[in-house]
Amino acid sequence: SIDGRQFYQKTGLYTFDPGFTSTASCVSAITYIDGDEGKLWYRGYSIDELAAHCTFLEVCFLLLYGDLPSKQQLKQFEEKVNDEMIVHEKIKDFYKGFNLNAHPMSIMCGVVGALASFYEYDAKDIVSDPKQRELSAIKLIAKMPTLTAIAFRTSKGLPIVQPDRKRSYTENFLYMMFSDPLDRDFRIPPVMIEALDKILILHADHEQNASTSTVRITGSSLANPFACISAGIASLWGPAHGGANQACLEMLDEIGSRERVNEYVEKAKDKNSSFRIMGFGHRVYKNFDPRAREMQKMCHKVLDELNVRDEELFELAMELEHAALNDPYFQTRKLYPNVDFYSGIVLQALKIPRDMFTVIFALARSIGWIAQWREMMSESVVKLGRPRQLYLGHKRREFVKLEDRQ
Ligand code: ACO
Repeated sequence: SIDGRQFYQKTGLYTFDPGFTSTASCVSAITYIDGDEGKLWYRGYSIDELAAHCTFLEVCFLLLYGDLPSKQQLKQFEEKVNDEMIVHEKIKDFYKGFNLNAHPMSIMCGVVGALASFYEYDAKDIVSDPKQRELSAIKLIAKMPTLTAIAFRTSKGLPIVQPDRKRSYTENFLYMMFSDPLDRDFRIPPVMIEALDKILILHADHEQNASTSTVRITGSSLANPFACISAGIASLWGPAHGGANQACLEMLDEIGSRERVNEYVEKAKDKNSSFRIMGFGHRVYKNFDPRAREMQKMCHKVLDELNVRDEELFELAMELEHAALNDPYFQTRKLYPNVDFYSGIVLQALKIPRDMFTVIFALARSIGWIAQWREMMSESVVKLGRPRQLYLGHKRREFVKLEDRQ
């Protein structure tokens, strides 16, 4: 066989970096992470301050335009988003085509990709016209809650609820999810709105993770922005990325009681077992994930104020966290809880069904994806993403016709 290393030694400098653990694929001014120190900043602002003082739409503005909005700018932005929340009637027909038990992430890949057929841009407009790019970003931010809520309602056989202009972005999403179409006064407890808004802020961007890199590489071929976002949703779906919070709750269910925590910690350490503690470990954070800290606080508040019975689940999670953090296996590998260790418990307390958890993540991350796409498309040259490979396969072989093969 050919060993590609010899070939690439001949042709010059070549890096082999599976999983891109030490390769920067782009220049970006959006999000900064210091994984060793456990720091996360959006446009220079620390995530804990943003989560404590901002709404999600304020953070969307920041990620998109680079600065926090003034009151006036925020009002205008909220109005623009409000104007775009309704989706085309024909889009609603798409939902009828899916299998009854279809995973909502498969529905989201389809319907968000389908937006490309309603907003067809010429590739050259996307490259040359910043207004077109801004418009697609606003449409995406505005339509994601509506598309997500419709995915949930249709999967349950429930009638669709239209967005209500009087409500804030996050409240509107919960209203479209849980209200009756005729109940215009449907009330949502403020702690639910606050908790979901925080979840959206904490998941809004995270530099070049798998799904964002997917969006960038798809966009680098000048594809339609909604097609790029659909590719990002597909990438987010897996349990090693966006599916971790659902997987974490399923794991807690499987563990079942605090007495069995040690058994599962041992299982996670056993190299003959494929079991991992879901919601633990991160490619970049080799310290406490700063989002996990915020989510843990929110978890306490939601369980207290909503008086829900998931307290036991939370206690179990705390016990597991404690056992793992005190185990040399996790300490030496710098494995700490990530944001998804707690976000599943909060989402469950908000009565969001488990198969919708990753969809909520996609709703939050859409702003990061589109801000990163917009940043890339604004560069003077958009470089087509095209990684190389290390070929370790056959040398050239003699071709044998079908009739002569054994
Ligand atoms: N449980 C047990 N052991 C683990 C875990 C875990 N959750 N995570 C990593 N390890 C171990 C690995 O077995 C490996 O051990 P070894 O050195 O003895 O071979 C070592 O830690 C390094 O693991 P890698 O897989 O090489 O680390 P990587 O950075 O590639 O993986 C990942 C990061 C995928 C997140 C991993 O930690 C994991 O699978 N975690 C569970 C899933 C999860 O929570 N995903 C959410 C990520 S955050 C997000 O998307 C918002």
